[in-house]
Amino acid sequence: MKIADAVNIEDLRRIAKRHLPKIAFDFIEGGVEDERCLGRNENSFARHRLVPRYMVDISQRDQSAKLFDRTYASPFGISPTGLAALFRPGADLILAEAAAAADIPFVMSGSATASIEAAARIAPKHTWYQLYTARDPKITEDLVRRARDAGFSTLVVTVDVPVSSKRERNMRNGFGLSVTFKFSTIAEALMHPAWVADYLRHGKPRFENWASYAPPEADSTGVARFMSSQTPATMTWRDLETFRRLWPRHLVVKGIMHRDDALRAAEAGVDGLIISNHGGRQLDQAPAPLEVLPAIHAAVGDRIVLMLDSGVRRGADILVALALGARFVFVGRATLYGAAAAGPVGVRKAIKILRNEIDLVMGQIGCPNLAQLDRSFLLTPDGTPA
Ligand SMILES: Cc1cc2nc3c(=O)[nH]c(=O)nc-3n(C[C@H](O)[C@H](O)[C@H](O)COP(=O)(O)O)c2cc1C
Repeated sequence: MKIADAVNIEDLRRIAKRHLPKIAFDFIEGGVEDERCLGRNENSFARHRLVPRYMVDISQRDQSAKLFDRTYASPFGISPTGLAALFRPGADLILAEAAAAADIPFVMSGSATASIEAAARIAPKHTWYQLYTARDPKITEDLVRRARDAGFSTLVVTVDVPVSSKRERNMRNGFGLSVTFKFSTIAEALMHPAWVADYLRHGKPRFENWASYAPPEADSTGVARFMSSQTPATMTWRDLETFRRLWPRHLVVKGIMHRDDALRAAEAGVDGLIISNHGGRQLDQAPAPLEVLPAIHAAVGDRIVLMLDSGVRRGADILVALALGARFVFVGRATLYGAAAAGPVGVRKAIKILRNEIDLVMGQIGCPNLAQLDRSFLLTPDGTPA
């Protein structure tokens, strides 16, 4: 299948899978342990029903969404994904550029393979920065300062990686700091010559934001080794208070799943939460974010902006999350499949697919404006799935 023939995110996934050697595709696709959580995320959307209302004037449909102090063209953005250049050279900046062109937010990963400063040149008004804290607090503070100096509107602190999780696909594939080149890995690579040619031309991706803290002689593996000596770092509520002091603009915590943690974040002065289980990559027994959203919404109300990611593959999924109380939704793999499949064209295609699906479903359910979308569109008014 060619990119022009892709009609949905699953098609992009298939093209990405064909382009990438198994070791790279499995890194995007994989979850933790038995990957039950991955399935749970997608099923949580599939289990909900939107009940259509007809004979409504839907001739003008507006999917723009207010978030903090501005309006984006669509109610979704791009979640942070580390090591993206492994799937397509320059992927972070490709994602940033496509997000700016589509007027949606792009969250640059704390383990990005481009620098904060480069993203600021390409998409200054659409890039948010996702922070992975370092064991050395000076590095953490410097990363926050750099994001602040770059003029980014929003800092996202990811809290759901207290330990490195057990991702069994990566273990089996020998994916790590230095890849173990097993015969099967080499054979696989040879079957993906376009990817290998890119890799040879651009070299091993480097964690650019960490390069200035690593020893001066460090190559990309040395920078990766340095970063992994600094992460994951233990983080507590006290650290969040520090970030609140250091960061003058919108502060978002990503990965909160418990109602009491959401309340505590609101008390700490956080502006928003991305309810997330890291796309099923950290805790296999974790609930889907959609399952905990109603309780968190009931607890915090409008005190804090609720956003969500994990498992979104369709425009309708985004609308279900909004109907259940999320203000905004993020996608990780959907746009990454696009980047891996076809670079800028693929990311634009992923965004367009989701945008068109949202538009059609809004028309189909008789909801011309997202401000009107609420639980009355769900089969059960309390949001429990049918
Ligand atoms: C390849 C990959 C890398 C990721 N890297 C990060 C990261 O660096 N920081 C982070 O907060 N989340 C990271 N995530 C999680 C995403 O931000 C997001 O929570 C998840 O992908 C959402 O699920 P979805 O892929 O089903 O949309 C990563 C996810 C993937 C697939």
